[in-house]
Amino acid sequence: MKITIIGSGYVGLTTGLSLAYLGHEVTLIDRNHVIIEKLRNGVVTIHEAGLGQLLKRIGRSICFSTRLQDGIDAQVIMIAVGTPCKRNGDTDLCFVEAAAEEIGEILPPNHTPVVVIKSTVPIGSARRVKSIIELNLKKRGVENDFFVASNPEFLREGVALQDTLYPDRIVMGADEIIVFDILRQVYLPILEQSFEQPTGVQAPQGYGLPAYVTTNLASAELIKYAANSFLAIKISFINEFAGLAERVGADIREVALGIGLDRRIGTGSLAAGAGWGGSCFPKDTQAILYTGFLYDYSLPLVDAAIRVNKRQRKGIVDKLQSALKVIRGNTIGIMGLAFKPGTDDLRDSPPIEIAHILLDMGAHVRVYDPVAMYNCMAQYPDMKVEYASTVQELATGCDALALITDWREFASLDWDCIGSSMRNKVVVDGRNMLSKQELEHKGFTYIGIGTC
Ligand code: UGA
Repeated sequence: MKITIIGSGYVGLTTGLSLAYLGHEVTLIDRNHVIIEKLRNGVVTIHEAGLGQLLKRIGRSICFSTRLQDGIDAQVIMIAVGTPCKRNGDTDLCFVEAAAEEIGEILPPNHTPVVVIKSTVPIGSARRVKSIIELNLKKRGVENDFFVASNPEFLREGVALQDTLYPDRIVMGADEIIVFDILRQVYLPILEQSFEQPTGVQAPQGYGLPAYVTTNLASAELIKYAANSFLAIKISFINEFAGLAERVGADIREVALGIGLDRRIGTGSLAAGAGWGGSCFPKDTQAILYTGFLYDYSLPLVDAAIRVNKRQRKGIVDKLQSALKVIRGNTIGIMGLAFKPGTDDLRDSPPIEIAHILLDMGAHVRVYDPVAMYNCMAQYPDMKVEYASTVQELATGCDALALITDWREFASLDWDCIGSSMRNKVVVDGRNMLSKQELEHKGFTYIGIGTC
């Protein structure tokens, strides 16, 4: 099927490459010439496992363009542009609306595609997209019975391809049955798992067939916010109990396992730590609170999850302070800058906020991340931190280390060597990924999250 995707960020690029791999004729549109030029030359513009190989494998069967005109004849046009958060928590729909306007401006009269909204958008946005397209068609004196659908994505950065090809469910919101049928065809290879597994992208253990959940437009839009809010609440819940575990002498990892094995709860998203960040949970929880505000309906659970998450970041600083007594004048090394491993994304990243708090308290802050350092230098040119090129360099002369992003390489470090170069052997493990026993044996003061 001919499919055009507007926007080649995380969602657009991953979806576009996946659909092309599954045999569709995909055109990926982005206004940014640099991104399109790089993609044409086989270079992926985001750090995401497997995307580069997939692009190579697909070769010339996908087109990249800066002009929607080049893909307007597609049967399915997906909008996958960014929806940033405004200062008041509202969602900025300017890119979504601009895409809708452009579709209305150039859609040929006899061509009736399904316009699919994949971006995370507030309830009612699919209808708004429809009316913007209609308005622009009307200006041209054109009548066109095109369709709209809401198809939220549930992919996680770092495992975006796996989540796209092996999803738990595909949610489709629309007003017409025919739309569900057309879009079922788009996802058929995934729904039937009839494609050949691409190298390096494996199905999760015990994976079955995904469900195809058809809903009305508002439900599909709300499902996305409900899913992210629920996951954010779940993580904040385990973090809240982590604080209590420390006080009563329990170990939150044992508690998480003990409750997670109850199938009604599930073991996922129960890793206590420095809290959630990234481009989705912080933005989507704020956005759904704003929706509640518009409808004069409070969402106290979501609100509490945000507050617990904030406290969790500050909690890392408190742990450093309790070990060092005074923060001012000490050198603290932060392990990790990305909001989670597998990505160079720094949006609302816990280590960045922690670095800022420590700097404000007068610490000398050093940072290291295996992939996100260049992004950090570019995005925070005024942040007065020292960049180290290895963990060993980071640790040399440090009074404490704080591990905030659980990069796999941090699990196999030479702690003897690291310890011998530190001024004070203190480690705050903000992701509970190190061995307390090993570190204490090597003479470190080890402080985890929710552990005794
Ligand atoms: C999240 C959702 O998991 C996806 O389903 C959704 O599609 C995506 O947002 C989106 O809306 O686009 P993502 O933000 O990429 O995906 O990452 P997650 O793996 O969910 O992690 C989010 C944050 O929670 C990270 O900072 C991570 O370190 C933290 N986290 C996660 C925990 O602190 N504990 C956990 O147990 C899990």
